[in-house]
Amino acid sequence: MNVYDSERMGSVLRAKGFIAEPDLAKADVVLINTCSIRDKSEHKVLSLLGQLKPLKAKNPNKVIGITGCVGQRMGRSLLQRVPHLDLVMGPDGVDRVGELLDEVVLRGRRVVDTQMDPVKSRQYSQPLLREKSRPNEFLTIIKGCDHFCTYCIVPFVRGREKSRSIAEILTDVEKLVAGGTKEVTFLGQNINTFGKGTSETLAQLINASDAISGLERIRYVTSHPRDLGDDLITQFGSVEKLCPALHLPFQSGSNRILKAMARLYTREEYLVKIEKLRKACPDIAMSTDVIVGFPGETEEDFEETLAMIRQVGFSGLYLFKYSPRPGTRAFGLEELVPDSVAGERFDRVHAAAYEIINRENQAAIGRHYPCLIESVDRKGGDYLMARTLSNKVVHVLNAGPACVGKIVDVEIVDANQSNLKGYYTGAPRPERTETTPRKIPTPLPLSPAFA
Ligand code: 5AD
Ligand code: SF4
Repeated sequence: MNVYDSERMGSVLRAKGFIAEPDLAKADVVLINTCSIRDKSEHKVLSLLGQLKPLKAKNPNKVIGITGCVGQRMGRSLLQRVPHLDLVMGPDGVDRVGELLDEVVLRGRRVVDTQMDPVKSRQYSQPLLREKSRPNEFLTIIKGCDHFCTYCIVPFVRGREKSRSIAEILTDVEKLVAGGTKEVTFLGQNINTFGKGTSETLAQLINASDAISGLERIRYVTSHPRDLGDDLITQFGSVEKLCPALHLPFQSGSNRILKAMARLYTREEYLVKIEKLRKACPDIAMSTDVIVGFPGETEEDFEETLAMIRQVGFSGLYLFKYSPRPGTRAFGLEELVPDSVAGERFDRVHAAAYEIINRENQAAIGRHYPCLIESVDRKGGDYLMARTLSNKVVHVLNAGPACVGKIVDVEIVDANQSNLKGYYTGAPRPERTETTPRKIPTPLPLSPAFA
């Protein structure tokens, strides 16, 4: 969502006549869009601000601003702490960034804007601001979160859930598709409860998007296991354009820790969702988020997390060491797990997950997948960057830039743990038969209800 917000600010500023300047020394305005999900991301921001100090000393007219969640969390105190900072704003200020810069540039003021929409309405409007469409686009449809997982800063910096209307979103998708977009990923911190208070649902949005001609692939992130209802589960495998891939964070495999995190589900309930998903769509690729070292996490708790990784066989993983966030309920908890122990647990989960991911990627070698070519590879050379239906990144050879924006047949020739490498075969694109490069490596024992 931060990438989306940054691009949106770019569009607002381009409309005002700004042009992009990648050289920080030359730029008249430097905005740093920030994340405060973990302590480390905040440190990076402060260190980058330090590096900008001499540039501001050389050119006092240079405007330096902090936007996003660190701006929201630290607000005015950041201006006090960093004398060479001119602007601090939160994530809800994205569309106001032009006016706020005017305040700084035209009126010479140092500005703080951490106003959040009051929770008067559950609906908000944010029509598309995009000059060009890319083959794969993100679109924020709901912002904020009503869960208060005890470790998480998001509800404090992004506020309560607010959804856009399906009508406005569909207008955006149609515009993107008219400009060449083939795949859209709907974004929200807690996306399953899209439409809370507006009597619309995510399932309705997915069905309506499926009917848009020219759109080929639909995805959404991020789901919460408690809120992923049967209506959404059964769409996998039945809604044609919905990709067979789902990011479903489980955070911890231990019920004791899940309770302390206020995640509102048990490991058993999570596993039932996985079963239902695989029943609806046997080749669905699951990915997840895991936190190790939550306060009070014992070796036994941790082993349940490890077991979950092996049992489900995830195709992708975002792994984090617990980071205490001021203001959250977990912040004051004692029984902190020493960093060395959290580090060792991190490595063990990483090894277990990547053993499976690696096996899965190796199994893809020699097989063909329909891949959406997204762009010329950032690594340069002759590669194009593409994605399978299961959301694996593929570096594609033998396809010219004219293939960008097309879904083509790719034969995989090599793989490592983070991506696949393949050749564009020139053959007509395959049907959506092969999606995930494997069967589940360690099959989940089915409960009697699904056996
Ligand atoms: N410490 C570590 N990881 C966190 N996440 C959120 N808050 C924290 C925290 N305080 C992780 C969760 C979430 C992902 C976006 O970031 O796993 O799903
Ligand atoms: Fe944070 Fe996600 Fe929990 Fe919301 S559901 S509080 S965004 S971890």
